[in-house]
Amino acid sequence: MKYLNEIQRRRTFAIISHPDAGKTTLTEKFLLFGGAIQVAGAVKSNKIKKHATSDFMEIERQRGISVATSVMTFEYKGILINLLDTPGHKDFAEDTYRTLTAVDSVILVVDSVNGVEEQTRKLMEVCRMRNTPVIVFINKLDRDGKNRFDLLEEIEKELNISLHPMTWPINSGKDFKGVYNLYDKSLLLFSAHTKGDVDGLHIQDLTDPLVDDKLGERDAAQLREDIELIEGVYGVLNTEDYLKGLVAPVFFGSAINNFGVKELLDTFIRIAPPPQNRTTTIREVDVHEDKLSGFVFKIHANLDPRHRDRIAFLRICSGKFERNRFYYHVRLDKELRFSNPYTFMAREKSVVEDAYAGDVVGLFDTGNFKIGDTLTEGERFYFTGIPSFSPEIFKEVVNKDPMKTKQLEKGLLQLTDEGVAQLFTQYGGTKKIIGCVGELQFEVIQYRLLQEYGASVEFRTLPYYKACWITAKDAAKVEEFLRFRQANAALDKDGHPVYLAESEWYLNTEMRNHPDIEFHFSSEVHKG
Ligand code: G4P
Repeated sequence: MKYLNEIQRRRTFAIISHPDAGKTTLTEKFLLFGGAIQVAGAVKSNKIKKHATSDFMEIERQRGISVATSVMTFEYKGILINLLDTPGHKDFAEDTYRTLTAVDSVILVVDSVNGVEEQTRKLMEVCRMRNTPVIVFINKLDRDGKNRFDLLEEIEKELNISLHPMTWPINSGKDFKGVYNLYDKSLLLFSAHTKGDVDGLHIQDLTDPLVDDKLGERDAAQLREDIELIEGVYGVLNTEDYLKGLVAPVFFGSAINNFGVKELLDTFIRIAPPPQNRTTTIREVDVHEDKLSGFVFKIHANLDPRHRDRIAFLRICSGKFERNRFYYHVRLDKELRFSNPYTFMAREKSVVEDAYAGDVVGLFDTGNFKIGDTLTEGERFYFTGIPSFSPEIFKEVVNKDPMKTKQLEKGLLQLTDEGVAQLFTQYGGTKKIIGCVGELQFEVIQYRLLQEYGASVEFRTLPYYKACWITAKDAAKVEEFLRFRQANAALDKDGHPVYLAESEWYLNTEMRNHPDIEFHFSSEVHKG
């Protein structure tokens, strides 16, 4: 328990949203509150614009900027906050899923005009799998949005989580007058571009005529009615249920106007969990253990040929990380030490001397790391819950230069170690299949194979739509299935059997016809 104080004062989380809901804007406001940046606009450059076509070099350039914002550390009211950035572009969704394995909680931003969108759904699925505690911020109340009761119902239904309003809006769009804070019973009146640090008017009792003065009789009456209903239905937030991922507290506001953001942040530091215990392949690691443990959840490779460096991001799960000390790399069975580990502060990265559970350090890497690698002080285990999910697009790798076969194989292995894509090998054959979530990755792979490994490839589109990891109590059944379905069978990089389904119909048919085989939608089943 040597590091109890350091652990208790840390909160490690991510802000997630469908692109354009306001994640970047909210991030920036948080950083302003934390004093990590002084001016608005400092985080914006990190954003990969939707319209930035599919010119991935441009995207890479911008992604390069984003290395420094991968982890944003700032202090707010004595709490040390590590905010992990997630890429906005949907083709990098896998990066986001992996980042979610490294946080203890998330804030989900929902656009009040658009409601639940595709990416919101997917991200929440990952949070639900892990029971990650979620706080919801409903943004853009300054726009005419959906009816707020309808919106709550939509979010509850679509995201399969119970909500608990913490603030409640008074109108929206041009009639937006502010929010009522149900927790500390105060009224916050809206004005565009507030400094965001004003405290609300304390209202002991909503029947206070002051409410009519401030809102007008009609809106005051509506607010009283709404609040009575909400308090009747929801009662007091049960923090335990939030921590178990069963209930999500909800805030309303307008990020661009810095409105409702302070209420969100204040509640966040009050209820969000400090770094938690984590399960490994052999035992649970208590966050308070003195010995270091941590895992790599992201690898960033620089595509600039003049700076061909990689940074592996290590989430610390217990103990203390110290610069220049030797740690045990479990997979390589080797002691490594790091002379220049980084921490990050807004756009600056600086060398760190020590770090604790909940922190993320950037390790300069020359090819030692792959996603999921674990560092310890000698014990052998891997952290579980860092799964690969099924890719959505599958292509066969066609080698255009047989003289470079060796380089191609090496390149494919290394790039997939970084998590750029997933690699499968045809069952009973040698055909290499790449699976990604976005078309952009194929461009990245083709370019990097040529630039870094001298291997020239083309891709041939395959008709699969999903990869399922298959297992059975009786291993012979899996063998039999693979032989029988050879055209749709492959092995993942670790040699685990995978069924590549061409459509939902085929998948359902196979599942029905083979009740003794289990179909899994993530690779997690193979750990633990
Ligand atoms: P993202 O990271 O989730 O993709 O979203 P981002 O914060 O970049 O916000 C997307 C757009 O929504 C931005 O406008 C931003 O200014 C706007 N926005 C964010 N919060 C609010 C809000 O509370 N109210 C309103 N009305 N708009 C909001 P943009 O035009 O795409 O970019 P920019 O030109 O403002 O940079």
